[in-house]
Amino acid sequence: MASLHCRSNTKIVKTTVPQALWQLCIKVFVRILIGADNQKQYNTYDWEAGCQALGNPEVTYPQYYRIPNFHGVEGGYLCKEAVVTYDAVTAFACPPNETHLRRQVMKSIQDRPCQILDLGCGTGSMTLMLKDAHPQAEVMGLDLSPHMLCHAQHKSQQAQLQIHWQHGLAENTGLAEQRFDVVTICMVFHEMPPRISRLILQECRRLLKPGGQLIILDGNQKRLRHTDWLIRLFREPYATVYAQESVQDWMIAAGFERVHTQYLGWIHQLTTGICPHPQDGLNTP
Ligand SMILES: C[S@@+](CC[C@H](N)C(=O)[O-])C[C@H]1O[C@@H](n2cnc3c(N)ncnc32)[C@H](O)[C@@H]1O
Repeated sequence: MASLHCRSNTKIVKTTVPQALWQLCIKVFVRILIGADNQKQYNTYDWEAGCQALGNPEVTYPQYYRIPNFHGVEGGYLCKEAVVTYDAVTAFACPPNETHLRRQVMKSIQDRPCQILDLGCGTGSMTLMLKDAHPQAEVMGLDLSPHMLCHAQHKSQQAQLQIHWQHGLAENTGLAEQRFDVVTICMVFHEMPPRISRLILQECRRLLKPGGQLIILDGNQKRLRHTDWLIRLFREPYATVYAQESVQDWMIAAGFERVHTQYLGWIHQLTTGICPHPQDGLNTP
């Protein structure tokens, strides 16, 4: 088959003519999704200064995060191209409606939390909703990509919401134990090897106060087992292994109580659980 040599960021990659045409169609479609106004807004950012201000120089990026061509973007989450496309593509990938989906996370929050952590917060869409709904709470968004945090910070400044943005690893946050009433993790686990998701759940056990809530919104694992084309369309390197397992089982294995999963829309699931009190189970025979 005839082949072309295309420039993908800095690398030259060999691709066939149908592949090149398909990639061109996707690029045009994504550009339409982003919209001209948003595109202009991203162009006004000083990405280098923003990433330097937010980035923690002690953070080292694990191999699973640095794999090339994550989501079809050469630099994965560690470049501005990922950020520019993220919000537009996510809105498209969350049928029937992204806001409605995220509202289900809000609805499952019990009581009035004082400390909320959004792990793998990305561009902060969920984090902003959390702060907006719980103005009394201290809200923190943590992510491994300074580029994503840069845009998240811009969004929170525009919305005049005070949120603390932290650069770090969700599986090893370095934050104080039993600090949070609620931890949310949205659309993160399908993007990493299951062994890392399990480590993150251990970290959540450590970070949550006894009785605190863990809320996980992600791809519907049962559905994704039968929609391989969708996984390929979004170039998800870990979604196939994610779909083979069960977030609910991982949470139970990590010691969470009252674990419950509900299926949302066409391709999402919401799993919630409670961090046990240390004395729980001591009197059971
Ligand atoms: C699909 S995005 C989800 C963003 C956001 N939670 C949302 O609901 O839109 C996945 C995010 O997880 C982050 N991420 C992946 N691995 C991580 C890790 N080990 N620690 C912290 N963040 C991580 C990525 O940088 C990315 O921003």
